[in-house]
Amino acid sequence: MRSFDPQGGPARDAFLQLFPGRVGVAAVGLSDYVFPLFPGEEVAIVKAVAKRRVEFSAGRHCARLAMTQLGYPASVLPSGADRAPVWPSGLTGSITHSAGVCAAVVAPCRHFLSIGIDMEPIDAVPAELADEVLRPDEIAPRGPPIRLDGVDWLTLHFCLKEAAYKAFYPRFQNIISFQEMRVEVDPRSREYLAEAQIGGKNAVPPFHGRFLVRDGRVYAACW
Ligand SMILES: CC(C)(COP(=O)(O)OP(=O)(O)OC[C@H]1O[C@@H](n2cnc3c(N)ncnc32)[C@H](O)[C@@H]1OP(=O)(O)O)[C@@H](O)C(=O)NCCC(=O)NCCS
Repeated sequence: MRSFDPQGGPARDAFLQLFPGRVGVAAVGLSDYVFPLFPGEEVAIVKAVAKRRVEFSAGRHCARLAMTQLGYPASVLPSGADRAPVWPSGLTGSITHSAGVCAAVVAPCRHFLSIGIDMEPIDAVPAELADEVLRPDEIAPRGPPIRLDGVDWLTLHFCLKEAAYKAFYPRFQNIISFQEMRVEVDPRSREYLAEAQIGGKNAVPPFHGRFLVRDGRVYAACW
């Protein structure tokens, strides 16, 4: 496989730090390079534009590097229903790409039932989306806009919910909206709880997560 791209280093370090247990983590900077795909993966991007081919192939490349870090063979990773990757037996994982970087985290199922990751540049989410992303019980109290370690409240919640959704979906196969995902942030520990609520009730036990802000990006991990 092609050598590791150093632009992915900060994302790799962030996700390694966020997970409470042994995980495989790889990240690369995105260029115009399309990494080789395994048979059965191409179908997911057969009609895709060049940018999407680059990010999809980088995700597969990172996932395979992460698998080998855990002692597993580099395996095919097809896209399943609703785009969720179909992880090899015994493994779970998650992929994210954002603003020129792609990262994948892979974990043994005996340690994590499912995981989700996301990263966003701070101030990535426009204020017009606040009503869609934030539930009434997540809106910050009146006063100056809240920032935590430099990230705005809206982008933080967007990122935490996307990571939680990626952990939630493979187990429950249910598309849910931002309003159906309730997030409770502990600003001191930089940890969060995410509850998927359907019909006003908690659909499943809560997911746990952590986040950190570094070099203009927020990184979230959920399990
Ligand atoms: C998956 C999703 C949350 C983020 O996708 P995105 O904006 O492209 O952002 P990212 O680059 O960070 O993540 C994409 C990767 O997530 C993974 N992914 C996609 N759908 C997934 C799903 N249903 N479950 C788990 N992982 C999924 C894939 O690996 C994908 O990359 P790939 O297609 O190259 O393999 C979004 O596309 C989606 O499906 N949203 C619908 C539900 C939602 O947003 N609800 C609100 C949050 S609760």
